[in-house]
Amino acid sequence: MLSKKMEEALNEQLNKELYSAYLYLSMSAHSTNIGLPGFANWFMVQYKEEMDHAMRIYNYINEQGGKVKLKVIEEPPSEFKDAMDMFQKTLKHEQFITKSIHDLMELAIEEKDHATQIFLQWFVTEQIEEEGNDNEIIAKLKLAGDRGNGLFMIDKELATRVYIPPAEEGA
Ligand code: FEO
Repeated sequence: MLSKKMEEALNEQLNKELYSAYLYLSMSAHSTNIGLPGFANWFMVQYKEEMDHAMRIYNYINEQGGKVKLKVIEEPPSEFKDAMDMFQKTLKHEQFITKSIHDLMELAIEEKDHATQIFLQWFVTEQIEEEGNDNEIIAKLKLAGDRGNGLFMIDKELATRVYIPPAEEGA
């Protein structure tokens, strides 16, 4: 059972996860457009993961007898300066999402909503991984440079990222 306030907050988070998917799909399209297929693959996998995050929240609201309310998804940017710009924007966005998850957790604690606290635990852990991945790629871009041979090598590496559906994650 969800309070109205919690239901509304979870619906807000659902919208933020859908926006995240939209943002990374836009970055994937841009990467394809500028000839970086590895980056395009990485962001496409990220898009799919964000859709999974959204569906986790969608299913949870339903399971708890709440009402899913879909809102307008904001238009994401479609132009980026370079690969570094995309990853800096990705990190900044994920820091915003982390803060949002932490605020949700605060609300669940305040309301003594133990079920939602357990549900959110997965997202707290996931955000550590997401920010870690972004920091790692930014460090590589700084080291190898975001053009020429260095960029080509990173693009090859990002081409190897594979999408793993939630059922196979063992989560
Ligand atoms: Fe759904 Fe990238 O956090």
